[in-house]
Amino acid sequence: MEYKYWEHFFRIHIYTGIKYVYLVQVTFCKGSIPNRIVLFLGPFFLVQLELKALELEDYWFCSKVIVTDPEGRQWLFPCYQWLSPKKKTILREHLRQCDCVRCVSCRWSVYDSEIPHIVQVDSASGLPYEVRFSFTKEKEFQHLLLRASDHRHHNRRCLYCLLFPEYIKKHWMNDTFFGYQFLNGLNPMMIKRCSKLPNNFPVTNDMVKSALPKESSLEKEMEKGNIFLCDYSRLGGIVGNVIDGIQQYLAAPLCLLFSNPQGKLLPIAIQLKQKPEAQNPIFLPTDSKHDWLLAKLFVRNAEFNEHELNFHLLRTHLLAEVFTMATLRALPSVHPLFKLLFPHIRYTLQINIMGRKLLMSAEGIFSMSCAIGLKGMITLMRRATASLTYSSLCLPDNIKERGLENIPHYYYRDDGLKLWNIIHKFVNGVVAHYYTDRDVQEDSELQTWLTEIVEHGIPKSFHTVAELVKFVTMLIFTVSAQHAAVNNGQFDFGAWMPNFPSTMKAPPPTTKGQATADSILAALPDVKHTLKYPFGYYPEELFVEAVPLQKMEQFRQDLKALEGEIEARNKNLELPYDYLNPKNVDNSVDL
Ligand SMILES: *[C@@H]1O[C@H](CO)[C@@H](O)[C@H](O)[C@H]1NC(C)=O
Ligand SMILES: [Fe+2]
Repeated sequence: MEYKYWEHFFRIHIYTGIKYVYLVQVTFCKGSIPNRIVLFLGPFFLVQLELKALELEDYWFCSKVIVTDPEGRQWLFPCYQWLSPKKKTILREHLRQCDCVRCVSCRWSVYDSEIPHIVQVDSASGLPYEVRFSFTKEKEFQHLLLRASDHRHHNRRCLYCLLFPEYIKKHWMNDTFFGYQFLNGLNPMMIKRCSKLPNNFPVTNDMVKSALPKESSLEKEMEKGNIFLCDYSRLGGIVGNVIDGIQQYLAAPLCLLFSNPQGKLLPIAIQLKQKPEAQNPIFLPTDSKHDWLLAKLFVRNAEFNEHELNFHLLRTHLLAEVFTMATLRALPSVHPLFKLLFPHIRYTLQINIMGRKLLMSAEGIFSMSCAIGLKGMITLMRRATASLTYSSLCLPDNIKERGLENIPHYYYRDDGLKLWNIIHKFVNGVVAHYYTDRDVQEDSELQTWLTEIVEHGIPKSFHTVAELVKFVTMLIFTVSAQHAAVNNGQFDFGAWMPNFPSTMKAPPPTTKGQATADSILAALPDVKHTLKYPFGYYPEELFVEAVPLQKMEQFRQDLKALEGEIEARNKNLELPYDYLNPKNVDNSVDL
C-alpha cells in the first residue's frame, strides 16, 4: 500500500517581546493536529518547536515554518524533520551567528580502520526518520535486491534488456568488445595512457608488432599517445577464497592496449601476475585462441573485483555514506548546503545498510560467490582507500591524470564532463549566492562538515568559494552521475557470466599451450556463483511457522537430488538436456 502524505497548515499568532505580532504558519505532514505547539522567536531569529504530546507517543513530521511580520515580510524555516515530544527542535534562518548543535542520531562506526567510516546503526529502523525510505520505497528496494541477486535485473531502467545479453553472448571473446568495455563498459575507470612500460611488464616490440601498423613500433605508438595500460596491481598477493570447500583463484594482471588508426581499442599483451618471470608468460593475441581467451578472462575477473569493490562500493556507495553522515551531523536543516545536498544523500544510509548485509557480511555475496572473498575484499578496499585522491574524484582532473583527453569514442568522458559542467554551474549558482571567500573560512558549520569528511573519508581542505563549489560538485557528481556510470550497466554487462566472472576455479596459467575449451569451461564459475538465488531459495522471509519452513527445506533437498539425477543422465547423452536442471531454473518468470 502506498504511504500517503497530507499536509496540514497551522496558523498561530505569537508575541515576541512587546513590539510585534508575528503570523506563524507551520506545515506538517501526516497525522492529525498535535495537542499543542509552543513557538518562540529568539534574538537570532530562531524558531523553537516543541511538541507537547499528552497521551500518545506521537511523532510529527514538520515540513516548514513560515513567519510573517506585520509588514508582510516572510521568513522561511525549512524543517523536514520529525518532531518528538522529547526534544526541542530549533530552526534558524541565519546560522553562522548561532552556535546551536543539531541533534542527530547518526553516529560514526568503524567497519575497518583503513576504509571510510560508516554509520553505526546496522538496521534501517535505527536511522533518523527523515532519511528512511517510506514503506513503498523499502519494499521496492527489497524487490530490487532480490532481482539484482541474480545479477540480471540490477538496473531498473533496463533499456537494453535483450540487446546487451544477446550482443555479449556473440562478442564476449571479441578483442574489439574487450577493449570497448574499458572505455564504455561497467568500469570506465581503470584505463590509463602508457608512455613508458612499467618495469615489471617487459613487453617487447617483437611481441606486439603484428598488432601495430607496419611502419610503426611500440616505442613510436607510446610517443604518439596510442598505448594504454590497465594495471591491477592492487590485487597482487591476494589469496583466493574457498567456496564450498573448493579453492578459487584470482590474478593481478597487467593489460596493454592499442588505440588503432580506426579508433578501436585493442588488447595487445596480457601478463597475469605482477612479478615478471618465466612462469608468468606475457600472453598475446597471436597465441592460441584458448590461451588468449583464458588470459582475457582473468582480466575480466580482475575487473569484477576492482569494479565492484573499488569503483562501485568504495568510491560511490561508501563515500556517499561519509558525505551523508557529515551533512546530517554538521549542518542544520536550514543551512544552504544542507538544502542543496539533502536530496542527494537522502536514502544512502539505508541503501548501504542493506547493501552491507548483501555484499560485505559473512553470508554475503563476496564471501559466498567471489574469488576475492571477505579477507581479500578488505585488503583490496584498504589499498584502494590508500590510493584514493581528491583529484581522482573530480572528473576533469581524473581524465587529465589518466591521459585520456583524446582517446576516441570515450563516451563516459564526453557525457561525464558535460554533466560535471552542468552540476558545477548549478552548484556555483547556489553557493556563490550565499558565500564569499571569507564566509567559507568563517562558517564554522561548513568547516565542521569538511572536518567530518576529512576524518572519516577523503583528505581535502578549502578556503575559497571556488574550492567549495568544486568540492560540492564532486560530491553531487559522485553520488549521482558516477554511481550511475558504474551501477546501471551491471545487468547489461554482467548478465552473461563469462563476460564478468566473479571467480575463477583454476589458477592463472603458468605456461602457454595448455588451455583448451574444456579447461576454460572448468575455470569459469558455476552458474550458482553468478549472484543468483537458485530455485527454491527464498531470501524474503515470508513464512515464520515451522511447517512451511520445513516444507521449503524439503523442496530444496528434492531439487538437489533431481539436479544430481539429471547430471548423471546427461553424462551418457550425446546431447545433454539441461534446460530443466533445477540449478538452471529461476524462481520467477524473467523480463
Ligand atoms: C569483433 O566485433 C567487431 C564489432 O562488432 C567486428 O567488427 C569484428 O569483426 C569482430 N571481430 C571478430 C573476430 O569477430
Ligand atoms: Fe550501486
